[in-house]
Amino acid sequence: MCGIIGKIGKVNCMKDVLEGLKKLEYRGYDSAGVAVFTDEGVKRVRAVGNISALEEKLAGTNLDGRLAVGHSRWATNGNVTEKNAHPHRAGRFTVVHNGIIENAAALKTAYFENDAFESDTDTEVAAKLLDKFYDGDAGRAIRQAQRLMTGSWALGILCDDCPGTLFAAANGSPLLIVKTESGNYIASDAGAAPDPIEVTKVENCEYAAVTADGYTVYNENGDALQKAPLAVAAGALSLDKGGYDHYMMSEIMQQPEAVRRTLEALPDSDFIGDAKEIRLIACGSAYHAGLVGARLFEAVRRIPARAEIASEFRYADPIIGRETLCIFISQSGETADTLAALRLAKEKGAPTLSIVNVPGSAIATESDRVILTQAGREIAVATTKAYSAQLAVFYALALGRSEALSRLPEAIYTAIAENDGKCRRLAERIAGCRNIFFIGRQLDNAVSQEGSLKMKEISYLNSQAYAAGELKHGTISLVEPGSPVIATVTDPAILSKTMSNLHEVKARGAFTIVITTRALAPGLEADVTLTVPDVGPMLAPSVAVIPMQLMSYYTAKALGCEIDKPRNLAKSVTVE
Ligand code: AGP
Repeated sequence: MCGIIGKIGKVNCMKDVLEGLKKLEYRGYDSAGVAVFTDEGVKRVRAVGNISALEEKLAGTNLDGRLAVGHSRWATNGNVTEKNAHPHRAGRFTVVHNGIIENAAALKTAYFENDAFESDTDTEVAAKLLDKFYDGDAGRAIRQAQRLMTGSWALGILCDDCPGTLFAAANGSPLLIVKTESGNYIASDAGAAPDPIEVTKVENCEYAAVTADGYTVYNENGDALQKAPLAVAAGALSLDKGGYDHYMMSEIMQQPEAVRRTLEALPDSDFIGDAKEIRLIACGSAYHAGLVGARLFEAVRRIPARAEIASEFRYADPIIGRETLCIFISQSGETADTLAALRLAKEKGAPTLSIVNVPGSAIATESDRVILTQAGREIAVATTKAYSAQLAVFYALALGRSEALSRLPEAIYTAIAENDGKCRRLAERIAGCRNIFFIGRQLDNAVSQEGSLKMKEISYLNSQAYAAGELKHGTISLVEPGSPVIATVTDPAILSKTMSNLHEVKARGAFTIVITTRALAPGLEADVTLTVPDVGPMLAPSVAVIPMQLMSYYTAKALGCEIDKPRNLAKSVTVE
């Protein structure tokens, strides 16, 4: 949450910082700001809203320089106001920050009781600490401030006395140094800098001094470190909108490729070993992928498995140990609750495996073993291709490789091609409704959870997913004449059961939509039938989710919603 960027080059770099900020906007978009070293010192401009609001404020100012930092904010401490927008300044220091300094209030009382503060943020406390400890040596001030702060931070720092150095410090929040032909960047995500030559991670309690020619990373004692750069991803999936109106649609379209690459890169190794039990721990859509994984491990491998919400797991004092394989699923690899759950599992001696999309992220680094999904950078807040890549990993782990699995990318492609137009038309109808329901049983229920989250996340319509048999135990009272009820029916063994539940809501006036396979479609009664290729019941979630994504996308579009950046959300949730 929150994106930070900084650049130091041999020529002016405001344009590059703004371009980078746009690529980081997925991390938060409550407000944005920049600070730049000019001949008259450090100047900053901040605006509530997204980067275009900032650009409007900057237009005509000619503000530019060779050293600049930028920030896009997802508010944690302090309301969404200009005074709380980053960068924050105190004395000779200007700071952009991603994370939460947990003891900010205590530090404020201990060191600055009589000081006036411009903002309500924890970041201003960090800036004030730097200024307090500054005696002409910015590195020493950073070390002293880092020693006092608790919580998480990635800081980009300008010191008024150092026009040739961009400082950075990190603890628990991602921060990368990216070398490029045109200068050196610091950023929350390497994708914010164009054409990286070398990417280096600033790890916990480290800090860095970055110049136009190079950089040095120091440990907490101020010793310069020899850091091994991370591998720079070659041939990554497209980062632009690919001609579509939104990243989300571009990412929906990239799913066949994301799944193909993930399966190709997956090592042929026994990741399950002799586990007696499996826990799959994650948040949001990644948790929904875990629901599918758990079902598969139980149904096929006959290993007791259950998916757990990371924020619950971490406080549940879970009964786990050496024989419980704990699998952590995360696109970003930095979700705070999932990371805390991983650390807890390790403490309890459980073997850990993570399924992560961002190499080098905290979850990927800290788990015993890691499987990297190859979805490429995902920008839309609503995940699509990362979820699909996670499912592909579970198929390989639980079912093993098969001819059907190798044909899955093609089936996903067909599901997109055959449902795009129908879902666009259907969305016009759904957009006018108050309540939407997704129902299914077993794997169809697991994938329905994801479909429903997608719908509410980007369209803001109330959507609920229910185990089909459970609806009549209360929730059916919300079904009104015309309410869309979307039943997923891909398993012939339980088809008639779910269809009975769909008929029950039809009898109460619901508008019924069924997502099913080509083979099962004939004879199913519903107002609208959406068909997906026959890939077998175990792999079906990967094709069934496609019409759900498309319906959600087009519904949100019909309602004029901010699809890539839904309100109140951020791509990486690095707070509890
Ligand atoms: C999905 O569309 C959401 N944006 C959200 O639920 C997400 O899946 C969740 O926050 C977990 O993120 P992670 O995969 O990066 O850990």
